[in-house]
Amino acid sequence: MSPEHNASPVPFVVAVDGPAGSGKSSVSKAAAAKLGFAFLDTGAAYRALTWFATQRGIDVAEADAVVASIADFDYRIDTEPGRLRVFVGETDVTTEIRNPEVSARVSAVARIPEVRLRLNELFRGILSGTDHDGIVAEGRDITTVVAPEAPARILLTASPEVRAARRAGELDGHSAADVAAQLHARDRADLQVVDFMSAAEGVTTVDSTDLNFDETVDAVIDVIKSARASGTGAAPSRGGTDV
Ligand code: DC
Repeated sequence: MSPEHNASPVPFVVAVDGPAGSGKSSVSKAAAAKLGFAFLDTGAAYRALTWFATQRGIDVAEADAVVASIADFDYRIDTEPGRLRVFVGETDVTTEIRNPEVSARVSAVARIPEVRLRLNELFRGILSGTDHDGIVAEGRDITTVVAPEAPARILLTASPEVRAARRAGELDGHSAADVAAQLHARDRADLQVVDFMSAAEGVTTVDSTDLNFDETVDAVIDVIKSARASGTGAAPSRGGTDV
């Protein structure tokens, strides 16, 4: 995934931020698939590092030990929207990184500044190295830190009640109250690191509270289309999908 792989013009980068349960992951993935773009879930890298450090018996509160473990963190993510798979070395961790133990620990890893610097470098390499016409990257600080120059930048929001209900629906078997409590606790912890609740200058807010899934995808695609039409940083066409 090195930038050298990209012999073509600069890909069209779409940055999407938002809190858990806003739908940003599934919506970003669907928008990417419709446009023929690649898709990068940045939270997966924070989760995979959390899984990796925990496997090694590291207490994630020990920032130095977590940072030292990055030297051996062999991370790969498939950016084809239809087949999101995440590997650490030879191990497929796609499912494990979503489990509650990882979710409960990941904020501690994400708040380590050196971890953020290292993962941001990794993300930028993936963005510039994609072999697709464009790439949709979602996370918490993509619009502000990872790709503030992206021609399309979106903050996807939804009311706290709607976000908790959506998450509970995704995690079958967990009580709605437990899911809501965990989601809000994680928001509070993550908000200490980056503000993903308010749109930075130039970032378009899409509020999905009263939109269904397809409507939200369409709203996101509309923002991308108008960014492309306005020509802000638009890449020369690679002969692929016309957005
Ligand atoms: O989106 P997610 O729930 O999979 O993210 C997992 C964690 O990683 C979450 O606690 C916030 C953190 N994160 C971050 O700090 N910056 C990002 N760009 C993406 C995720």
